[in-house]
Amino acid sequence: MNLPLAGQVAIVTGGARGIGLGIAQALQRDGARVAIWDLDVNATSLRDAGFSPDHVERVDVASLESVEHGFARTVEALGHVDILVNNAGINGPVAPCWEYPVDAWHTVLAVDLNSVFYGCRVAIPHMRARGGGRIVNVASIAGKEGVQFISGYSAAKAGVIAFTKSAAKELAKDKVLINCVAPAMVETELFAEMSDAHIDASKAKIPMGRFLQIEEVGAMVSWIASPACSFTTGFTFDLTGGRATY
Ligand SMILES: NC(=O)c1ccc[n+]([C@@H]2O[C@H](COP(=O)([O-])OP(=O)(O)OC[C@H]3O[C@@H](n4cnc5c(N)ncnc54)[C@H](O)[C@@H]3O)[C@@H](O)[C@H]2O)c1
Repeated sequence: MNLPLAGQVAIVTGGARGIGLGIAQALQRDGARVAIWDLDVNATSLRDAGFSPDHVERVDVASLESVEHGFARTVEALGHVDILVNNAGINGPVAPCWEYPVDAWHTVLAVDLNSVFYGCRVAIPHMRARGGGRIVNVASIAGKEGVQFISGYSAAKAGVIAFTKSAAKELAKDKVLINCVAPAMVETELFAEMSDAHIDASKAKIPMGRFLQIEEVGAMVSWIASPACSFTTGFTFDLTGGRATY
């Protein structure tokens, strides 16, 4: 059987657990060899999922130096990179913006937004030289709507969406397609940082009346990263069960 991603190499940041792990599994199932970048490279979640990545690299996506090093090591191990999924992210504090800790603001922006810039800055020259590639950035409904009490996270994710639009226009003739997904709530360990009230309020906003499943994110990202997605770039694909119809 000819798998859609056969012969391709993908990097998934934050792939040790949660949504990233689900994306990594979907890409591998569709034929790609997959490198996982994470701070937590000994995650039991990988073993629990019975998933064997083709390469694992300890990378702090908030550090350009670490991203450059991780990219070089990945190319060394797997030969080339065709797909980059910028997924690693943190929620940060839940607090009114006027009380939001300044240090946490900088950390959230570094992990959720600077990381996307760093990953692209390092991967794009490689992809352009190879004659193409796919980048998928994991944004959030928070970046489209702005969610109360997570202003740092919302601002970072809005930044990811705008960055993706700019980069897509710059790359449109290079066969490097760059898109976002904007998920609503998925039940992952990110929930540990959120209050029950915040989780309940988020569910109430989803017309389908349920949380998003990780497999649904994996399937969509794998399609966006595949040759079948050929005429869409700079777009934010919706994963909100009807909450955002724009
Ligand atoms: N869970 C949700 O409801 C939801 C909704 C919308 C968007 N998202 C986004 O999806 C992405 C994944 O979220 P998740 O729910 O799977 O989170 P998670 O906390 O379960 O997993 C995040 C992974 O990223 C890694 N990570 C964190 N900081 C890192 C760093 N500096 N360098 C490298 N790796 C790092 C963690 O070790 C972990 O493996 C995030 O970008 C998040 O904002 C999540």
